[in-house]
Amino acid sequence: MAKLTVRDLHVRGKRVLVRVDFNVPVEERDGKIVISDDTRIRESLPTINWLREQGAKTILMSHFGRPKGKRIEKYSLRPIGDYLHDLINQPVIFSYDTIGKIPEEIIAHMRDGGIALLENLRFQPEEEANDPHFAEALAKLADFYVNDAFGAAHRAHASTVGVTRFIAKSAMGFLMEKELKYLHEELDHPSKPFLVIMGGAKVSDKIGVLKALIEKADTILIGGAMANTFFKALGIPIGASRVELDKIDLANELMQLAKKRHVKFVLPLDAIIAQEIRAGAPSRKSGRLSRENGIPEGWQNLDAGPETVALFTAEIAMAKMILWNGPLGVFEIPDFAKGTFATARALAQSNATTIIGGGDSVTAVKQAGVADKMTFISTGGGASLELLEGKELPGVAALTEK
Ligand code: 3PG
Repeated sequence: MAKLTVRDLHVRGKRVLVRVDFNVPVEERDGKIVISDDTRIRESLPTINWLREQGAKTILMSHFGRPKGKRIEKYSLRPIGDYLHDLINQPVIFSYDTIGKIPEEIIAHMRDGGIALLENLRFQPEEEANDPHFAEALAKLADFYVNDAFGAAHRAHASTVGVTRFIAKSAMGFLMEKELKYLHEELDHPSKPFLVIMGGAKVSDKIGVLKALIEKADTILIGGAMANTFFKALGIPIGASRVELDKIDLANELMQLAKKRHVKFVLPLDAIIAQEIRAGAPSRKSGRLSRENGIPEGWQNLDAGPETVALFTAEIAMAKMILWNGPLGVFEIPDFAKGTFATARALAQSNATTIIGGGDSVTAVKQAGVADKMTFISTGGGASLELLEGKELPGVAALTEK
């Protein structure tokens, strides 16, 4: 069912409560909090700027980290508010409380086009508990509610779901709309050939996604430590590689399902192997992997080998639509990053619609310097996986229908 978008709201002079996902990675440098990747903040700007131009009073709210219902200073959103201020070149009034007198006073004195930011919602245990009183108090701050926090849309919390019960109109923001367009609408009717590249450490994280994508994809390429569980299922020795022994039956089941659906299910042909996962550890090529030539005892599969990279590159060149989720090796260590970065570059060169489905593959695409060559990069981790599995996101379901 189509939901309201921020465009459907008449916001001039109105108070608009906007749930954003400012849960960004940060580092401490010389005792100061520094944002290491501001993508989620930048991607919220189309909605924030639109509301500003329309003359709304915008009240932003977000979670940050997992402070578990306690006020913990290092999880304060204050530095993020300062960062946003610099980014939009306009004051962002910071409210130390999320509900009650302080934000109410601030909002009462806001001018049209003004922006305020509430403190981390997760300082209140009521947020994650989806407490109705807390949700109602949030709703009281505004005339309209907008959810632009795609990254948190899989959480049924007070600020993503509860609040919508107490406010007349709840709409999605531009980022939410864009995420749903690519990860839901486009992938529901993919251009063919549709290629899926799935990597990462664990099959168990991707079971639902793989099952759902086998129904739609023409080809699925498997990489990362996840491939080891499939190798094991096929009787290919994996040495000391990371594996999920309790998921071997499932790996067989997935390969059977792919066969039944005539989906080409491709495992790595070879690997870069080492005895330790550390920079500088002696490593070598495995050669073509088979039951007879597996990964030797004590060695681990840490990256896709050159034959695999060549095969994946050829598959990428043939596809019209590509979804990539999860790295193909331990790309945090340069010695084991070649497969992942080569794949990122092959994607950058392809003419296909390229969708990067959140999490570590986003970091990989950025580190490879090709982020601007992708059609779409999701800001969601868990949320994008749940959406790809075909699940309804509670934060979207709760919005007002058109
Ligand atoms: C994320 O980073 O995936 C979202 O912000 C959700 O955070 P959470 O997993 O702590 O709910």
